[in-house]
Amino acid sequence: MRKDFLWGSATASYQCEGAWNEDGRVESIWDRYLHEHHLENGDVASDFYHHYEEDIKMMKAGGQNAYRFSLSWPRIISDREGTINPLGVDFYNRVIDCCLENDITPFVTIYHWDLPQYWQETGGWLDHNVCAAYDQYAKVCFDNFGDRVNYWATFNEPKWCLVNGYLIGNYPPGEHDVQHTMDAAYNMMFASALAVRTFRQGNYQGKIGIVHSYTPVDGVDNTIQTQIAVRNADNYSNNWVLDTAALGEFPIDLVTRLSHDYDISLMKPDELKIIKDNTVDFLGLNYYARSLVKPYTRGETQLQFNNTGKPGSTKIVLKDWFEQVMDPKSEFTEWDTEIYPRGLYDGLKKAYAKYNIPIYVTENGVGVREDVSVPKVQDDWRIIYMNDHINAIMNAVDDGCDIRGYFAWSTMDLYSWKNGVEKRYGLVAVDFDHHLERLPKASFDWFKTVADSNGDAI
Ligand code: NOJ
Repeated sequence: MRKDFLWGSATASYQCEGAWNEDGRVESIWDRYLHEHHLENGDVASDFYHHYEEDIKMMKAGGQNAYRFSLSWPRIISDREGTINPLGVDFYNRVIDCCLENDITPFVTIYHWDLPQYWQETGGWLDHNVCAAYDQYAKVCFDNFGDRVNYWATFNEPKWCLVNGYLIGNYPPGEHDVQHTMDAAYNMMFASALAVRTFRQGNYQGKIGIVHSYTPVDGVDNTIQTQIAVRNADNYSNNWVLDTAALGEFPIDLVTRLSHDYDISLMKPDELKIIKDNTVDFLGLNYYARSLVKPYTRGETQLQFNNTGKPGSTKIVLKDWFEQVMDPKSEFTEWDTEIYPRGLYDGLKKAYAKYNIPIYVTENGVGVREDVSVPKVQDDWRIIYMNDHINAIMNAVDDGCDIRGYFAWSTMDLYSWKNGVEKRYGLVAVDFDHHLERLPKASFDWFKTVADSNGDAI
């Protein structure tokens, strides 16, 4: 069942476009946060805004037949009143047209974390009004690009951006507040359902889904206590996004549990009905690692995010819920991400059995420090990594899972949020120090043979 399989790569607006204040683009929460904290930012990034033609032609040369990218809300909508910026719309029209001229299928994410700052002024995702504003923005996207786009994702990784923004506090708006995390999560899932409703009511062509940072959960053993910890971790990591988007319901045991300590009055029956009635057509799953858990055993910590000292590494402990552990037998990246392709196979089987709708692997890849001053980056580590993960996907397809595409993260090196440009994921190297020159890595050529053979080369 590999007919019409999408073989592509992915980026996100803030991470690749640059041109942060050009042609009427207004400030996003990331611009404000990074500028204020004097951190490395995406002002220029890979400058896709000015290199998009070259980049899209390169995708074609690399055998790719699809490109997953996101639209920048602050580039398209200028203010809280919903004023459309024609230059922003024009840019994405050119990107989409360029994709089609090169036989690349556009796979469009409406929101990949760059909320306009003008919405943060009244609370960002805590302001319930942002749901209607997002819905209006999504409609502008459908109206302007819907004649040429067949794949839409409402959100990229609600869990990752909200947990980091409202609980861990290392993304804007930098909070540590459980109640706020819950409220923002509810608002984002409600906004997603509103956009699905608008999409269906408008009879636009194509399909609409959501993209989730998928962390399949394994237990250290099979005791009852561990099984409970696995369920808790799965609720925390996956179910509140996937169940809500695909089945139309927040996990009842999670809601019940949270309602003992927190306020859930935001969840209004009429809105829950909208969520129930507007489930997605497909799931986009981003896979980097699984989570291995055991029952909670520590002292009195209510909520703990242990930084093991290395950049990016966060060990999660939720009191009475679960505790994450590292498998000593596994290999880890420099950023402590476990390399575990088996988790993708298991996770796809689980997700397809549970949700029974088409799945796209919308991101997968490995972030490393790389010397790009050489004539050709021989990134064998990336080839091995991708080979093993694509192999896991092909096995799941052979077992009957309806998986319809694979997107490497990322198309080219780009700005990796708090890791700046040091953590490179690209199939194509970008020389950030010298004119942003592009140079395909060995993995780019290898991926072409995989795409050309529709996966048989694995
Ligand atoms: C998930 C996110 O969608 C993307 O923005 C991020 O850069 C990659 N994973 C790598 O961490």
